Amino acid sequence: MRAAILAGFALLALAAPAGAQDQPPVPRQSWSFDGPFGTYDRAAAQRGFQVYDVVCAHCHSMKLLHYRDLAGIGYNDDEIKAIAASKQVTDGPNDQGEMFQRPGRPFDAFVAPFANEQAARAALSGALPPDLSLIVKAREGGADYVDALLQGYKSPPPGMKMVENMQYNEYFLGHQIAMPAPLAGSDVQYADGTKPTLTQEAHDVATFLAWASEPTMEERKYTGAKVLIFLVVMTGVLYGAKRQIWADVH
Ligand code: HEC
Repeated sequence: MRAAILAGFALLALAAPAGAQDQPPVPRQSWSFDGPFGTYDRAAAQRGFQVYDVVCAHCHSMKLLHYRDLAGIGYNDDEIKAIAASKQVTDGPNDQGEMFQRPGRPFDAFVAPFANEQAARAALSGALPPDLSLIVKAREGGADYVDALLQGYKSPPPGMKMVENMQYNEYFLGHQIAMPAPLAGSDVQYADGTKPTLTQEAHDVATFLAWASEPTMEERKYTGAKVLIFLVVMTGVLYGAKRQIWADVH
């Protein structure tokens, strides 16, 4: 048993660098939420939600989000009610003991596309789309990686043998991904009239997913700034006090 595990590790160690060698670095993008004072670009995050809602939500759940959370990217109560009401939520059981469908309400969690993992795999030739609630935190490169991945579909290099139902993607580890290219440009009609190019859609949905992964980032940065200002002021006060207290000691 031990030998088998060790052999497994040895194989992994051999296999990993081979895949990693031709892994191009993920291009760095500039994000509104970069840096110590960065904030989420609300318009981009709303456009990104639209992309998620129209395209990604066919396969990916976001179980940690509730419709009312969308207030965090600037949707107002009426907009949130309308978004929730456009979804069908399973509720129940009712007095007859049966589950039933009703329009969504703001306190509902985002409706998942599949009832369970097995249903997802059955619909997608065995592949499992991960929940996207925390994906930006869960992947090295974060928003840059998601942005690059969505634009990383190419035809495979000559001689590469592709497994059935797999697509070649420059930025996916090993380059064979079970997700068909989800974006091509013009996949949504943006409510704010922005032109839905592939680059724009990828950037917007990555912004939305970054917000979803850390909705309290702005508060955290704001608190950090307040603490720093407090420390600077306090240092000044204490220095002044020290000088006064020791003024007569020679
Ligand atoms: C037709 C179904 C489908 C759609 C639509 C889809 N995905 Fe996926 N996605 C998948 C599957 C399946 C996987 C798992 C791929 C694998 O492990 O090979 C995946 C994986 C991912 C991953 C994880 C990649 C990794 O590093 O493990 C991200 C990020 C992702 N999708 C983002 C998106 C976004 C953003 C959209 C919308 C623009 C989207 N997907 C639309 C099926 C889909």
